[in-house]
Formats: sequence, structure tokens, C-alpha cells
Amino acid sequence: MKTIEALKWRYATKKFNPNRKISAQDLEILRKSVNLAPTSYGLQMFKVLEIENPELRAKLKEASWGQSQVTDASQLWVFCSYQSHNPADVIAFSTRKAKVQSLPSENAQKYAEFVNQSLSNQPVEAFQNWTEKQTYIALGGLMIACAELGIDSCPMEGFSADQYDEILGLSAQNLKAAVVVTMGYRSDEDTTAALPKVRKELSDLFVAV
Ligand SMILES: Cc1cc2nc3c(=O)[nH]c(=O)nc-3n(C[C@H](O)[C@H](O)[C@H](O)COP(=O)(O)O)c2cc1C
Repeated sequence: MKTIEALKWRYATKKFNPNRKISAQDLEILRKSVNLAPTSYGLQMFKVLEIENPELRAKLKEASWGQSQVTDASQLWVFCSYQSHNPADVIAFSTRKAKVQSLPSENAQKYAEFVNQSLSNQPVEAFQNWTEKQTYIALGGLMIACAELGIDSCPMEGFSADQYDEILGLSAQNLKAAVVVTMGYRSDEDTTAALPKVRKELSDLFVAV
């Protein structure tokens, strides 16, 4: 599908067809779209948990205002952002960058020192806010990829991060659930699919200065 056509086709799916699954091939494309998202410094300070276990899904549904997408969609992905700065993450990234881009290792070391210094100078809340924002960029790219593949999705903030933490044991992994996405195929019964989009006029959104 062409971009605008695909973006008009997509909508925040309220009711998924529980019997239709995304193919392994499409799933790999969707994972790649997340991996190719731009992130600040390129650090990718988040993980995506792919929740398959039906019992976990049922528990997470309760922690998501009972929203049926959590159990009915083919996929439930939880974007989890890193909660504290670990200099080793930055060193691992700059070492990989040096290898991939054939850069001298001392450049990589200097870059890592620079990034580590700037990250350790900020309060932990600022770090958490920053890593959380990165997940939304990846989420946006993922949903566009979904639309282009004719896959439905629903981005979700309607959940308790504390309950997700408890159910998935996230704190112990230095993670916190930032945002959730459910993906699959719309149910024929989802009447919201036919609703026209409510959006501002472009002239209200864009301001020439
Ligand atoms: C970050 C974010 C969180 C959202 N959380 C929910 C949610 O928990 N449940 C839901 O049904 N829709 C959720 N939505 C969907 C929005 O309500 C929807 O995108 C918006 O109303 C525009 O409609 P459209 O996406 O169908 O064009 C969320 C959207 C975003 C971007």
C-alpha cells in the first residue's frame, strides 16, 4: 500500500480476530522495523517483550483495564525502557559501532567516555524519561510497517506499569513497561473500523514561521 493509503487504512483496533495469526515471515519484518528505528546516540536502550503465554496474557489483560486486544490479538509486545544508566551498555554499543563501521578502537573508547559522562551527569528521572521516549519512536515505525503489510495494530497506554512490573518481573531486569502494542487482524465485528478519522486541518497543525 502507498503510505497515505496505508495510514488511512490503519486504526487503533479495538477487537481482533483471535483466530488469525501473523505469519513468521511478517513477524520478522516487524521486528526489523523496530530494530531499524532511530534512537538517541543509537543506543537502543529498550527491550521488546513478546508475550506468548496465554496465562500471562490473561493477567496482563486485567492490568490493562480489561482491554480484549491483550488476549485476542495475534501478538502482544511490551516496550520496556531501561531504568538506570549502565556504562557497560554504552561501551558494548561503541565497540559494536567501531567493528561495524571499521573505526579505530580508540575513537570508540573516546565516544563511549563522552556518552557515559553525559548520561551519568543527569538525574535518574531524566534518564528514564529519555529512554521511555525512544520506545515511542520505534512504536511509530512499527505501526507504519504494520499498516504497509495490511496488519492491524493498537498502541496502548491503558495499562498499569506497576502491575506489568509485578507480573513480568521487570524491575529485576532494570526495565519498566513504557508502552504496549497489540497486532493481528481486525474482527469483522469491530464497528470502529468504519469510523471516519478525526484529525485537525493541516493548517491548524502546521504553522509557517
Ligand atoms: C500512545 C498511545 C496510547 C494509546 N492507548 C490506547 C489504549 O490503551 N487503548 C486503545 O483502545 N487505544 C489506545 N490508543 C489509540 C488512540 O486512542 C487512537 O490512536 C486515536 O484515537 C486515533 O485514532 P486512530 O489511531 O484509530 O486513527 C492509544 C494511542 C497512542 C498513540
